[in-house]
Amino acid sequence: MKNVVNTALDPTLRSSDAQTFEVALRRKIVGQDSAIEKVAEIYQMFLAGLNAPNRPIGNFLFLGPTGSGKTRVVEAMAEAMFGESRAVVKVDCAEFQHSHEIAKLIGSPPGYLGHRETHPLLTQEALNQHHTDKLKLTLLLFDEIEKASDALWQLLLGILDKATLTLGDNRRVDLSQCMIFMTSNLGAGEMNDLISGGFGFTQKPAAYDPKMDEKLNRTAVEAARRKFSPEFMNRIDKTVVFNMLRSEHLEQILEIELGMVQQRILQATGNSQFVFSCTPSMKKFLLVEGTDAKYGARHLKRSIEKNVVFPLANLVATSQVKLGDFIRIDRTPEGRVTFTKEAEGALVPVLLEKYGQEGAAATAAARGTKAGRGKDFGPSPLLEKLG
Ligand SMILES: Nc1ncnc2c1ncn2[C@@H]1O[C@H](COP(=O)(O)OP(=O)(O)O)[C@@H](O)[C@H]1O
Ligand SMILES: [Mg+2]
Repeated sequence: MKNVVNTALDPTLRSSDAQTFEVALRRKIVGQDSAIEKVAEIYQMFLAGLNAPNRPIGNFLFLGPTGSGKTRVVEAMAEAMFGESRAVVKVDCAEFQHSHEIAKLIGSPPGYLGHRETHPLLTQEALNQHHTDKLKLTLLLFDEIEKASDALWQLLLGILDKATLTLGDNRRVDLSQCMIFMTSNLGAGEMNDLISGGFGFTQKPAAYDPKMDEKLNRTAVEAARRKFSPEFMNRIDKTVVFNMLRSEHLEQILEIELGMVQQRILQATGNSQFVFSCTPSMKKFLLVEGTDAKYGARHLKRSIEKNVVFPLANLVATSQVKLGDFIRIDRTPEGRVTFTKEAEGALVPVLLEKYGQEGAAATAAARGTKAGRGKDFGPSPLLEKLG
């Protein structure tokens, strides 16, 4: 017996897990919407149990310029899924350029000299190490695959196709619970030539041009097709060409990175939670020092560490900055970075309000837990509140 119904269904609707995931990624990743959409699509398919059996959950090829977020997307996925950016099994292909180094990945056959000492990276235990009761999924990243040796390449082809791998000692590894990401900056040089100066520093922000984006995409994909074999390209489920970041993107990334530093300070144990704020001229300085056409946002973190985090750490260590202080960081026209205490203790009530009665310092320890850390790496609401 069946009931006849006629209900229109909406296949574009996302489950709430997939939605939460996508929202979390959007908070962390700037200017790479198509990457976010494609990974969210495959994740949703996995959650629905519809991914093909005996294959990886998804094979992704990430192309595009250096420092545009290819590796960061995978780390951000790990934060969104497991509350921890390091919950990724990462193979730096540059470290496996010689064929014999493949033993570091799969171990060597028994009887080989030193086979007991090797701890291969791609065992089943290593792949499953981040699994939780709720989520049996592995993020497996092969970074900068254009540098892979032929041996690694053969291994990769097998994994992408059949989701299995045989270790040196003949154990079989099942990779059907893996989302596999391969990154390469192939074609990035040509992309750069196409829009020369396209990273768009403040002087010359590149206008948004969909035709140009299409051209850039084609350039990257063609470069990949020239270098990689058809059998490899045919095994890719989704190719994503990352966009060149423009100045407004880099500004947003700076805000995210500063927000992460603020978060770290508010999660510090002991009595050293405080709030800082960078003036526009300080932000401009960090951007000029931390970003460029060749490396995108890759050096932004380093610039923030050097100019913000280390000096702040010194101020804390010498007790010049204390719980609840408000510090303004500025760069003078003469090029000096200055740190000014603008309020004292004033923030303790705000910290208490935000983090509960146990006291701001005591809650820091509690918030150091996994659940707390994974939740929010965006700009601090506390900062916004304070202007
Ligand atoms: N689109 C982006 N959104 C947010 N942060 C980014 C983005 N692109 C780069 N970054 C920042 O720059 C750093 C380097 O980016 P990364 O992902 O390693 O570049 P690549 O494309 O070379 O893999 C990241 O850790 C992150 O801090
Ligand atoms: Mg990378």
